[in-house]
Amino acid sequence: MKKKEIKKFILSSLLLITMCHVPEIYGQTQHKGPEWLNNAVFYQIYPSSFKDSDGNGIGDIPGIISKLDYIKSLGVTALWINPVFHSGWFDGGYDVIDFYKVDPRFGTNTDLVTLTKEAHKLGIKVCLDLVAGHTSDKCAWFEQSMQADSNLEYSNYYIWTDKISEKEKQGIIKRHMQKHPESSTIGSFVEANAPRAKYYKKNFFECQPALNYGFAHPDADKPWEQPITAPGPRAVVRELKNIMAFWMDKGVDGFRVDMAASLVKNDPGHKATINLWRGIRKWMNSNYPENVLISEWANPAESIPAGFNIDFYIHFGLKGYPSLFFAPDTHWGKNRGYDFCYFDKSGKGSMEIFRNNYTVAYEATKNTGYIAIPSANHDYQRPNIGTRNTFEQLKITMTFFLTMPGVPFIYYGDEIGMKYQTGLPSKEGSNHRSGTRTPMQWGAGPDAGFSTCNPDSLYLPVDTGHGKITVASEETDPGSLLNYVRKLIALRRSSPALGNNGDWKLLNDKDQQYPMVYERYTLKEKYLVVLNPSEKKQEIEITEKTSGTAKAETVISSGKVSFKERKNTPQGIRFIIKTAPFSASIIKID
Ligand code: GLC
Repeated sequence: MKKKEIKKFILSSLLLITMCHVPEIYGQTQHKGPEWLNNAVFYQIYPSSFKDSDGNGIGDIPGIISKLDYIKSLGVTALWINPVFHSGWFDGGYDVIDFYKVDPRFGTNTDLVTLTKEAHKLGIKVCLDLVAGHTSDKCAWFEQSMQADSNLEYSNYYIWTDKISEKEKQGIIKRHMQKHPESSTIGSFVEANAPRAKYYKKNFFECQPALNYGFAHPDADKPWEQPITAPGPRAVVRELKNIMAFWMDKGVDGFRVDMAASLVKNDPGHKATINLWRGIRKWMNSNYPENVLISEWANPAESIPAGFNIDFYIHFGLKGYPSLFFAPDTHWGKNRGYDFCYFDKSGKGSMEIFRNNYTVAYEATKNTGYIAIPSANHDYQRPNIGTRNTFEQLKITMTFFLTMPGVPFIYYGDEIGMKYQTGLPSKEGSNHRSGTRTPMQWGAGPDAGFSTCNPDSLYLPVDTGHGKITVASEETDPGSLLNYVRKLIALRRSSPALGNNGDWKLLNDKDQQYPMVYERYTLKEKYLVVLNPSEKKQEIEITEKTSGTAKAETVISSGKVSFKERKNTPQGIRFIIKTAPFSASIIKID
């Protein structure tokens, strides 16, 4: 073979070897996603609460645009914005009336295009929220499907029946009979008494009729259960792709998909739903290879093979997240079967549930997708809640979120330590979620710089802790949580071992819960992350293989953590790590 041919042979063999290690789905190799995800850090914005540009008390898109420099200053590289589409506002925007139109409260389609353009100029990607499983009951498609004639364009976009079982009748909701039509998720049918039929299937609240993606195993006795190949379900998939293409063609970089596992009904193991998403991924790979799909599925073992690039580790699905952050005396921590969460100052929590299910999910998907452990989201409490309420404590939790593998998501306001506010009334279907959707606290004053409206008209009340929890006050303090978060993001983005693809290994033994210590590493570099969220001193002994110099350099820390060499063992050097109460440290090992 000539030199050139040998080179070609080696290259193609290498390619083959690499491809052999990449799992195959739908006849194509699955990759973790476009390159920009390697270094991505997301910032989630609840648009009604981020920045109000026109003084009506509700945030809007021009408001977001006006804060892009701030977003950039954090070091984040992508946005996920909760639904911005024309909505009935009975579920915070998740009851969509028109997927092709920005809700007037936020501005216009042109404003959204301007936002993506301006964000792109700063190197920031923009992902929207795709409510794939349902619409609003005020959507024109649904209104048409209520008509007696079942052969109209949108007739079979929804699931209608005159007969449901006795079991399904229990707790049935009558359409618009409740005081708050949004407030119940019980049952799966709504009694509508429409000309078309008596009942429709809903996906979440009464106001959210399920789109008809068909049934994986239609029951022959229930002719209204259409197979996924029926014309109705096929048209719905086409519509979904249309919506996606509409926004991607306008510059949007991807979607967080709401209730992504909910599409096909009677679908054990979500097999048909997984297949459906695989089809969409294949279509995206051909047409929009730079765009990403993020799932609200909370089971990466299913969602990543379905073609999602990122799945969330959150308040439902895999059980680890609550055991880390939700104390039993909070709304989301109730009846979970533990007495203390891990990031509780008592130091009496356990990381075992997290260790077990996160480790399994991580190992199963680390080569094909990313798990995101968000600091919070619009559906559950923020880290600042109950007795976890000081900047000192919040620095420990933020160190965790920003040093774990996968793609980090910071929920707006968590970078300054905004508090989950208890006791607020339900707002647009939020129920307990109001406390986590309050306006961003930009500065001093009764509106905290969010709006210029009369404070009574604010979307939800602000609580800046006497002006301490605001961007303005933290901006000027080098030791603030805000500046600490900036340092964490910068370090993560400049150190591959600490980044999205760096490896992760928990070093704690089962009988040693505190401090939490894990390694982040690549073949070239290694870091240790040490976290003590408790009010007590904690220490741990670990064994590390080093290059021999055993150089350990603290790169970022909060509180005192000391790292001392004990002795050389055949397994490596034995170190003792001593941590002060409420401390965190990122240590580079040579
Ligand atoms: C998702 C959203 C939540 C919404 C629900 C119904 O869980 O995150 O806010 O209420 O779906 O769309």
